[in-house]
Amino acid sequence: MLIKIRKPSDVRSSEITPKEVFLGRRRFIQGAGLAAAGVLFPFGSADAGAALPGVVKSPYTVDQEPTPLEFVTTYNNFYEFGTGKDDPAKNARKFNPKPWSVAVSGEVSKPGVYALEDLIKPHQLEERVYRLRCVEAWSMVVPWVGIPLADVLKRFEPTPGAKFVAFETLFDPERMPGQRRPVLKWPYIEALRMDEAMHPLAILAVGLYGEELPNQNGAPIRLITPWKYGFKSIKSIVSIRLMETMPPTTWNRSGPGEYGFYANVNPNVDHPRWSQKKERRIGDSYFAPKKKTLMFNGYEDEVAGLYAGMDLKKFF
Ligand code: MTE
Repeated sequence: MLIKIRKPSDVRSSEITPKEVFLGRRRFIQGAGLAAAGVLFPFGSADAGAALPGVVKSPYTVDQEPTPLEFVTTYNNFYEFGTGKDDPAKNARKFNPKPWSVAVSGEVSKPGVYALEDLIKPHQLEERVYRLRCVEAWSMVVPWVGIPLADVLKRFEPTPGAKFVAFETLFDPERMPGQRRPVLKWPYIEALRMDEAMHPLAILAVGLYGEELPNQNGAPIRLITPWKYGFKSIKSIVSIRLMETMPPTTWNRSGPGEYGFYANVNPNVDHPRWSQKKERRIGDSYFAPKKKTLMFNGYEDEVAGLYAGMDLKKFF
């Protein structure tokens, strides 16, 4: 098996990621200078890319070399900023994700509109290096910074009627120029079954490579479910709604025969137009052999139980 998720006992406190390893040297020196001057506060700065200090490395981390930052931030899917892989980096440059709030509604005792600073506190943040497998048969390894989705959901006190969680991206064609064209039905929406959402691998990410999320990666807050195809990992979330019935999702609505609700990474179930058995790792040489795709993206030991008894060809 290629992927090993380390148990908490395997992680030494000395293994907090050295930021200079993750950031380019110039950016590290810049960040260190600003931090020394006391001007960097998580979520507080108007500039994207502020450092997130004191982030602890989580045991939920794969033993794989992260994809270089340049690739993670320039090869993106974020249709709100264009459909080309290099469009989001170019077109999201001016997007300002501050201030930001998330509306929480539905089957909860504590609905409301929560400011991002109240939703996620800096001391809760942890770093997790996760594999990201896109449905388009490419993959990356990304050091995300975030907190378990379960920790956030529990604070809203879900009621017994909460069976699913629905997420919605910001709808603002002025700020998200891709939404001026009907390439998808806007806003982008996604959802999880409640037990999937409460699984410890599901996180809400607010950063990567030790800094706040770049706009093109879904600033300021996005979902990450590493055992599912990347399209489930909805970006720039403004709404979380707990529901009794299965909510619609963007790609399932746009192509129900091609994209299922579950979207679990599964090399044994091909997309109708291409195989899912292998993947190209972004950053590898064009001539490098493709890698085998693993069941549940390598997280089978952790998540297979969620789908026990289900026909994964039918519920794809
Ligand atoms: N979220 C929104 N709102 N809009 C999108 O177009 N694309 C999805 C997902 N989340 C998308 C989105 C797809 S297809 C993938 S593979 C991942 O984001 C890509 O995340 P990344 O650009 O950070 O690698």
